[in-house]
Amino acid sequence: MKARKPLKILLVDDEDGIRKVLKITLESAGYEVLPAPDGETGLQIFIQEKPDIVITDIKMPGIDGIELLKRIKHLNPETEVIMITGHGDMDLAVKSLQYEAADFITKPIDSLDLESAIKKAEDRMSISRNIKTYMEDLKTLVEEKDKRLTESEKLITIGQTIAGMSHAIKNIAGGLKGSSFILEQGIELENRQYLKQGWEMMKGNIDKITKLSLDLLNYAKTTRLNFQLENPNTPAREIVQLMGHKAKENNIIFKFHPSSEKMLALMDSDAIHNCLLNLITNAFDAFNESVDKDRQKQVTLSCAILKKEIIYSVKDNGSGMSETVKASLFKEFITTKGMNGTGFGLMTTKKIIEEHQGTICFQTEPGRGSEFIIQLPLRTKDSKGGVRGKDFH
Ligand SMILES: Nc1ncnc2c1ncn2[C@@H]1O[C@H](COP(=O)(O)OP(=O)(O)OP(=O)(O)O)[C@@H](O)[C@H]1O
Ligand SMILES: [Mg+2]
Repeated sequence: MKARKPLKILLVDDEDGIRKVLKITLESAGYEVLPAPDGETGLQIFIQEKPDIVITDIKMPGIDGIELLKRIKHLNPETEVIMITGHGDMDLAVKSLQYEAADFITKPIDSLDLESAIKKAEDRMSISRNIKTYMEDLKTLVEEKDKRLTESEKLITIGQTIAGMSHAIKNIAGGLKGSSFILEQGIELENRQYLKQGWEMMKGNIDKITKLSLDLLNYAKTTRLNFQLENPNTPAREIVQLMGHKAKENNIIFKFHPSSEKMLALMDSDAIHNCLLNLITNAFDAFNESVDKDRQKQVTLSCAILKKEIIYSVKDNGSGMSETVKASLFKEFITTKGMNGTGFGLMTTKKIIEEHQGTICFQTEPGRGSEFIIQLPLRTKDSKGGVRGKDFH
């Protein structure tokens, strides 16, 4: 059997003594330790060495623990970050949980606490790893292109759904655990602020699990779509009304170019509404990542009716996508939004579009933005040749 490579732990602490003691303790427990005396060095080592786990002091000069946590989570949301806190640092500990720290241990560090925090982090990592291996196995299954391809294709879809779901649930469970800890502290210390913070975090996670179950229902729905004659501008216009407020709040110029054609087409308007909502939400989210601060944020939704097809386009000048994300999009559940995303959005969108016999494609450039284009075949009559549906808009 191949010996497993020791896990790499990045250890950031400005106190020489603590760094030395922890390094010895962790190395004797079989880990590879990369020590760093400050946040800046820690971040550099993180980028170069890609450690599995990060343990960082919360209070440090320069980039402090919370800032380091934020930057690391931005670079790789999957990293398990354990915070070291002082005795009176409960406020900071609570804050770190809100920024998705895995756990925290208090000084003076008890080696049992340290061991248990690392063990928990390893368990969560092994869940992620298992999900990844599972997805890769499924991919090879389909690539083998055996004669039971349709069976394998079915398997891959089911498997990916389960994998995507377990991943999202793992993230939400982490969030719920963090919020219940903050709530417990609030009750114990009779601290209203903690109660409020814990409750806000808990509500956010309840929203996430509600959204996840709805996404899953939509994805798994086997009921046929409800095709009706509808003006293709209508679902787009609904999104403009729904999201206009959010655009304003986030200083995004949100433009809508409707089609000037007055025509009814067969479509499931509610399903198309959901697809456009997914794309617009993603476009708005594309400004959360580091984009040029001086650039005016813009998102444009267009609807065009051509001779034989309906085209919807959602264009943003946000972050664009990395090659890795680009390569996985529409093929597997992928999210770069950590606890704020599930990766169901685009998979569900693709499914709905394909059920309309349409296609969806995209182009993207890192740092400049992305455009998603939906193409639907234009059908103006139902199968019986009659014209049903709502009025012109
Ligand atoms: N317009 C965009 N600009 C930049 N990245 C995007 C854009 N649209 C999608 N992405 C990338 O594709 C990933 C998958 O998108 P998808 O909508 O499937 O999931 P999500 O937005 O992460 O989560 P949710 O399930 O809440 O929609 C996103 O996490 C993001 O990295
Ligand atoms: Mg999305």
